[in-house]
Amino acid sequence: MRSLLVTGGAGFVGAHLALASKRARPASRVVALDNLCRRGSERNLERLAAGGVEFVHGDVRCRTDLEAIAGDFELIVDAAADPSVTAGLGGSPESLVATNLLGTVHTLELARARGSAFVLLSSSRVYSLEALRALPLVAEDSRYALAAGALPAGASARGIGEGFSTAGARSFYGATKLASELLVEEYAAHHGVRAVVNRCGVIAGPGQFGRADQGVFSLWLARHLDGGPLAYTGFEGSGRQVRDLLHPDDLFELLERQWGEVSAWCGQVYNVGGGLSGAVSLREWTQVCAEATGCPRAVASRPESHPVDVAYYVSDTARAEARFGWKPARGPRQIADDLTRWLRAGGPA
Ligand SMILES: NC(=O)c1ccc[n+]([C@@H]2O[C@H](COP(=O)([O-])OP(=O)(O)OC[C@H]3O[C@@H](n4cnc5c(N)ncnc54)[C@H](O)[C@@H]3O)[C@@H](O)[C@H]2O)c1
Repeated sequence: MRSLLVTGGAGFVGAHLALASKRARPASRVVALDNLCRRGSERNLERLAAGGVEFVHGDVRCRTDLEAIAGDFELIVDAAADPSVTAGLGGSPESLVATNLLGTVHTLELARARGSAFVLLSSSRVYSLEALRALPLVAEDSRYALAAGALPAGASARGIGEGFSTAGARSFYGATKLASELLVEEYAAHHGVRAVVNRCGVIAGPGQFGRADQGVFSLWLARHLDGGPLAYTGFEGSGRQVRDLLHPDDLFELLERQWGEVSAWCGQVYNVGGGLSGAVSLREWTQVCAEATGCPRAVASRPESHPVDVAYYVSDTARAEARFGWKPARGPRQIADDLTRWLRAGGPA
């Protein structure tokens, strides 16, 4: 019987992957482990139960919580994290490191002990802040775009590829993800754990409990519905900053394709995102939100940029596309429509 364990399985991405996997293979065993520290994650427990996903209340910082789960798993998806890019910046990063790095090591240990394949949900935040900030950009009407001409290694008109610099500071969050990636490589090389790393850009869609420091695109749409305040922050307050959005259904489709080739996994890294067709500036996203919700809103402007923010990030997904024959199919408008439907049906607290 196919079996899957998702850590962080009550979170936005984890719950989505767990439920989608159970739907795709109703006879399989799917377990979601979570300590429910993310506000809103407790609201997913009913959905998980209704979808036939077993829930285990546990903490990845505690090795014995993982060891106590009975049974073997064909695949473990590591989706438990403090996913905030600002985590650790206001004080000690100890708790972030315990969850994001030590938690990954504990989960890798479980994979080693049970002979499971392993997927790390890493982040585009592993890339060098300085190198991303040095990208040559031009300010177009509604967004920044890469300037024509020479680009640094790893960057092209398609966006940022896996070869882009990871040197220098990036954020404590990005550092925990990069360190986790290195540990995945070691487990693959020395313990034979079949593993892949998916370096995700922005994932957005229904089920996300968006906050200003994480999930801002989902929060932005929610604010269109509830009338809460909106402000373009940083980069002269213009809203021209660009990200590529990935729908969680597209991530699941990639996971399915990857799962079909587990025997070839040896720690490879893939940039995973919405790519050029999923790229949108915050200013353009405001327009998409207005159209999807029917609620246009005024947006204030705060020019000062946050120390770990960047003006432009678009994932170049060529490597994953070539390897798995995968392509993200759901663009910003579908993400906005699906989010609107979910929020109108009750959404988060
Ligand atoms: N959403 C994105 O845009 C995005 C982008 C890149 C990478 N990722 C990565 O994808 C993964 C899932 O992110 P998400 O957006 O679903 O975040 P999320 O906060 O919705 O989900 C994370 C879940 O992990 C749980 N968790 C936190 N600490 C835990 C611990 N010590 N033990 C057990 N559970 C714990 C939380 O309660 C939460 O339910 C994370 O690893 C994140 O870094 C997300």
